[in-house]
Amino acid sequence: MVPTMGALHDGHLSLMRQARTLADHVAVSIFVNPTQFAPTEDLEKYPRPLERDLELCREVGVDFVFNPSVDVMYPADELDVVVDVPALTGVLEGAHRPGHFVGVCRVVAKLLSIVGPNVAVFGRKDYQQLKVIEAMATGLCLPVKIVAGETVREADGLALSSRNVYLSDEQRAAALSLSKALREAEGMISDGVLDPRAIETAMRAQMQAHHVTVDYAAVRGARDLCELDLINTSMMPVVCLVAGRVGATRLIDNVVVGEGTRSPLARG
Ligand code: PAF
Repeated sequence: MVPTMGALHDGHLSLMRQARTLADHVAVSIFVNPTQFAPTEDLEKYPRPLERDLELCREVGVDFVFNPSVDVMYPADELDVVVDVPALTGVLEGAHRPGHFVGVCRVVAKLLSIVGPNVAVFGRKDYQQLKVIEAMATGLCLPVKIVAGETVREADGLALSSRNVYLSDEQRAAALSLSKALREAEGMISDGVLDPRAIETAMRAQMQAHHVTVDYAAVRGARDLCELDLINTSMMPVVCLVAGRVGATRLIDNVVVGEGTRSPLARG
């Protein structure tokens, strides 16, 4: 299964193709989940091009699309159910979007229970979400294997996101500073910079130079998002994470360093 909120792009299609290599049948859910949006966020204007999404699912050979209504997922008489992984959800995205991950956990737990997949694929683009869902699935003994899918990027490095459609040409150029900041961070780590703070400062400066309002620029342990005193990728891979607003559009990106694979940000 590949859970999505629709407005599908090549990043989603790559998760679906990956799912196809892991299972005989692939299900996709398309549901813009209201419980993971704050009242100030873009729930109303979130793109919902359903016919196009269904066509793309057909083209990739998806067997089953689950596209429930809000009433089906959240019946009016349902009592609130709270699933949370507090050790992971209070920081970074969670600190800037209070309640977001409780909404994500609730809907993902429901979607997995309804569809019942053996394997569910989530993109690394939402790295913290991936870690939260892995922890939720393990902690609740959910009978599903959580698999990570790589982030897909434009040729110039911009990570694909359903929210990129909001960007003007000028804003798109500014948005590139997120992946540039991550490349710079990777370069600093491979040059032997050990102090996470120095890297965070450089990432923040890169984004601010392009008039991005920075929510965070952080270097954390890749396994559990722990804070680090020093970087030692031979002991523990790290993840560099950035989030910022370009105009009214909020974007996030990340790169994992020290996993022993070629950098996903490397060109060519
Ligand atoms: O990553 C997303 O698209 C959403 O957060 C998810 C996992 C489908 C839950 O609504």
